[in-house]
Amino acid sequence: MPQATSSTLQLENLSPFIGTAVHGIDLREPVSDADFAVLRDALNQRSLLLFRGQQIDEGQHVAFSRRFGTLLGHVLTQFLKQQHPEIYVLSNVTEGGKPIGNHKEGWNWHSDLSYKAEPSLGALLYAVEVPPEGGDTLFASMHAAWDALDPAMQQRIRHLKATHSYANYYGKAFADRQPLSDKQRADVPDVQHPLVRTHPETGRLSLYVGQDVVKQIDGLPADESTALLAELNAHAIDPRFCYRHRWQAGDLLIWDNRSTMHCATPYDDHKYRRVMHRTTVAGDRPF
Ligand code: OGA
Ligand code: MN
Repeated sequence: MPQATSSTLQLENLSPFIGTAVHGIDLREPVSDADFAVLRDALNQRSLLLFRGQQIDEGQHVAFSRRFGTLLGHVLTQFLKQQHPEIYVLSNVTEGGKPIGNHKEGWNWHSDLSYKAEPSLGALLYAVEVPPEGGDTLFASMHAAWDALDPAMQQRIRHLKATHSYANYYGKAFADRQPLSDKQRADVPDVQHPLVRTHPETGRLSLYVGQDVVKQIDGLPADESTALLAELNAHAIDPRFCYRHRWQAGDLLIWDNRSTMHCATPYDDHKYRRVMHRTTVAGDRPF
């Protein structure tokens, strides 16, 4: 049953720990401050919001995204929309021999821009075209993952730090592509972040890990770092902490990168087209 709220919005949970569907809103129209406050609160509590059946254009996508904060570009500038450089395109489609978006972006567990000193607060991903099967996106609650760790492990990792590296991610995910240029590399130097971070708005702790993008846990022998990272990554994506999103065109999903990880899943990219538009909200330094 949808839960009533003080505004006209209706909220419906999608899974135990993560995800809420928002009903009764048309994102072509400006969102009132009262409704926006409900959305901000729901995002902080539930880490992921779903808006179905939205027929927004690029300008409306950008305008709504800006309500959440300053918008960021991307180091792969070739995949930003020329008219709306706040929009980063994920797609397998090519036009005139050129990819219109980054294909196979996020095909492993990560949170966006964790390789930056100030990673993204959150992202708003809009489904323009989706395959009839496959191409779901998985989301995991890193609050739930932290809460479920046994106390001895919590104590062991509470003050550890890890190195996040876009170059490491790119090298593994896109080994078949042209390597990053010197300029691109300089744009995304490796950074260090706490392995356990505090949500700046709620104070809740979460596990801050990721596959490939997290190169190592710092201050540990290499084999110990590799083993601990593998253990924490495996724990973090336990299905009980996850929600799987089956996309429909017109879906807009907003997630909180400070308390979640997500992962794309494959689809038949020879047979089907997938075109997704993402805006990315600036965040603070993790602590
Ligand atoms: C993203 C992302 C996954 C997907 O937009 O940041 O990782 O399923 N997307 O497209
Ligand atoms: Mn992503």
